[in-house]
Amino acid sequence: MATRKRGLARGVAVVGAGMSKFGAFPGRSTRDLFVEAFSQMRASVDKGLDPNDIEALYIGNYSSDLFEGQAHTAPIMADWVGLTPRPATRVEDACASSGVALRQGIIAIASGLYDIVVVGGIEKMTDLPIAEVTDTLATAADMLYEIPAGFTFPGFYAAMATAYMDRYGATPEAFMSVGLKNHDNGAYNPKAQFGTRIADIMAGKVAKAQKKGYPAPTWANEMEFLHDNRANPVIAWPMRLFDCSPVSDGAASLLLVSEELARSFSEDPLYIIGAGQASDVALHDREELTALKSAKLAGQQAYDMAGVGADDIKIAEVHDCFTIAEIIATEDLGFFEPGRGYEAAEEGLTSRHGTKPINTSGGLKSKGHPVGASGAGQVVEIWKQMRGQAGERQVAKDVDLALTHNVGGTGQTCVVHIFERR
Ligand code: COA
Repeated sequence: MATRKRGLARGVAVVGAGMSKFGAFPGRSTRDLFVEAFSQMRASVDKGLDPNDIEALYIGNYSSDLFEGQAHTAPIMADWVGLTPRPATRVEDACASSGVALRQGIIAIASGLYDIVVVGGIEKMTDLPIAEVTDTLATAADMLYEIPAGFTFPGFYAAMATAYMDRYGATPEAFMSVGLKNHDNGAYNPKAQFGTRIADIMAGKVAKAQKKGYPAPTWANEMEFLHDNRANPVIAWPMRLFDCSPVSDGAASLLLVSEELARSFSEDPLYIIGAGQASDVALHDREELTALKSAKLAGQQAYDMAGVGADDIKIAEVHDCFTIAEIIATEDLGFFEPGRGYEAAEEGLTSRHGTKPINTSGGLKSKGHPVGASGAGQVVEIWKQMRGQAGERQVAKDVDLALTHNVGGTGQTCVVHIFERR
């Protein structure tokens, strides 16, 4: 494959970003959630947005067809925010759908075709029973080889986790430390589905037992709670409940404009200076399970385009669909050496106060993972952190460069973006 340095024919900036709350919302459809996200995005544009100026929409959505019985979702989203007859395109790349939709929006502006586009992400998962959700998610895997072998997504990531433990000597406590950290971050994110620290979840369970007159559970600390098979059951060993992202509903929306127009929308735009995407064979066909080749390639493309390296990135939102995925991501992106990511997590380097804050939003683990919305949702956090608008979870340093990493399946797709605040 040719390896020439890639670049954008003209610059692209983010000048608006908003999202719905993520969670389980009976009675609300993707339409309602997208309208909420779009309204939030519109309100975030510093100098205002006239929707008539929007020229096209790119909407990431994994499977409204199976989750809601509704396909052809992009024009419906355009209709519900009053944007027909603009072209509206659905982008599907499993859990990377809206990260890839973002890339399509960037390409459309960089090519000169449009100046102002909306990128969205939507998913409504919680209407189905969990067994059907699991089956629907599994359609993102290889139906010929992997599904007949009995794999589900928790199973795939459990296989990666056991391979990682075997190769590097990590223990389940490292995975637990990622869950603890992300719940701690999510507790400061009002949009998070599970925006509760694990210590507070423990206190809630004790209070509930006492109210019912049952013997109250006694855990010495969070780690003891996370080792308790009743409080934190094994889903697919070594992945337990608190290692898994939840089943979620939610939507996110971004406003992209050409670099020349950026300052007419905001004096504080975020410039997209790096973009990478790669694909890979399905998990069963890979030489190694402890790294994602697509993430390494997408990351390298983004770094090369941006002319920066891993050490220059101040914060990152990475795809922690399971806790092991966050550890592997921090290695694939070059933040830590292979086999060192788990120690970095345990040492707190990736905490909000650490040297490399990862998933300050709470990540998919705590914020929620409405799969088609997650990639765009990551950018909403970067938007807030870079502009100093993240409230109590705001990192203490100046964030001039930040990165998002969005994975489809077990890494058959990975898309990485780098943002700069000038
Ligand atoms: N983390 C922490 N707690 C969770 C949770 C999660 N991911 N998911 C549910 N819970 C809690 C609920 O709040 C509830 O708590 P309560 O009893 O105190 O009220 C309890 O666990 C049971 O909730 P329920 O909704 O019945 O869970 P479930 O068994 O239907 O689903 C999983 C749990 C882990 C199976 C489900 O979240 C899952 O499949 N996650 C992975 C999703 C996935 O694969 N995404 C794609 C990634 S590539």
